[in-house]
Amino acid sequence: MKRVALLGATGSIGRQAIEIVAAHPGLELCAVASGSSPLDDVDAPLKQVGGDLTELLERAQPDVVLNAVVGFAGIHATLWALEHGVDLALANKESLVAAGELALAAMARGGGRILPVDSEHSALFQCLEGSEREQVHSLVLTGSGGPFRGRTRDELGDVTPEQALAHPTWSMGPKITIDSATLANKGLELIEAHYLFGIPYRDIEIVLQPTSVVHSLVRFRDGTTLAHLGYPDMRVPISYALTYPERAATPAAALDFTTLTLQFEPPDTQTFPMLALAREAGERGGTAPCVFNAANEVAVAAFLAGRLPFLAIAEVVADALAQSDGSPARDVHDLLEQDGAARRFAEQGLSVA
Ligand SMILES: NC(=O)c1ccc[n+]([C@@H]2O[C@H](COP(=O)([O-])OP(=O)(O)OC[C@H]3O[C@@H](n4cnc5c(N)ncnc54)[C@H](OP(=O)(O)O)[C@@H]3O)[C@@H](O)[C@H]2O)c1
Repeated sequence: MKRVALLGATGSIGRQAIEIVAAHPGLELCAVASGSSPLDDVDAPLKQVGGDLTELLERAQPDVVLNAVVGFAGIHATLWALEHGVDLALANKESLVAAGELALAAMARGGGRILPVDSEHSALFQCLEGSEREQVHSLVLTGSGGPFRGRTRDELGDVTPEQALAHPTWSMGPKITIDSATLANKGLELIEAHYLFGIPYRDIEIVLQPTSVVHSLVRFRDGTTLAHLGYPDMRVPISYALTYPERAATPAAALDFTTLTLQFEPPDTQTFPMLALAREAGERGGTAPCVFNAANEVAVAAFLAGRLPFLAIAEVVADALAQSDGSPARDVHDLLEQDGAARRFAEQGLSVA
């Protein structure tokens, strides 16, 4: 029996994870947590609403932590799992992006592993299995392009949160859905892929595939490209991460190749500058990705609250990156300080945006 601690149990990933655990006789929930929503309808021996997630993990001593918290709030749980050598099923990409080298150092000390839940990274993880680093030419991260793919900047000036929340292919929580509309999500995923697979940024390409059937691809040195295909259904990567290496059955529909057409196109980085900003933050390294993430979280919350226009999200993030020296964090306290400083700077920027 694999004992799963599910953090973010009331969210989009959390709910689907509960379904996967309930359907699998080899999985059980040992602890669940949310930020503020009640957990009355979830059956688990340990439950926690708000508070310190690492205290819950200490009590639960899980075999695997599924971190499905949204945002930087997941940082301590990610570092706890990595330090303790406990498998980390990672949906909370923001924690790996922000912690970067600190997270990798914690993983090296703890001896654990990260099993990606993001569908693109699960795809890359599977395509890379069994290969040596020198055989890999490059990674191709796919994205749908979000609800505003094909629009010009002029057409984005007055888009509303409701319009941005209408994702064409995935049903997800509000923060990642806005990130998908700005392409910040693909930017976070670029940095996540760099840390997960140790591939330099120049060798990670972003391609749009509007129906989200191709979840990502790996190019190898012999000219082979391996792709991972499936209908968009997060239960598949959640199940893969929780049951790895078993690859348990899921209720996901099989692909119908008689109706499938696959189109690819490059992202429009002029209209959607968050992608280039994320690449810049990733290449600068240090705490630049932490600053990118913090400013983005502040700007997205302000957009959702009707306090910031859609196009100003990227301006707030660009300004925060420009004022930050991106110096590496020596420890988690340093990282928390950098995150806090970036948030304060971004909040100030909201009043002038
Ligand atoms: N949804 C997807 O399909 C998808 C796909 C790939 C990756 N991801 C990633 O998975 C993560 C979760 O996304 P989501 O779409 O599931 O978000 P969501 O629906 O907004 O759910 C977020 C969850 O995090 C909990 N939470 C927030 N702050 C917390 C805190 N301080 N302590 C404990 N729990 C806290 C929330 O609890 P409350 O209900 O109490 O607020 C909720 O359970 C994000 O990092 C996202 O990028 C999601």
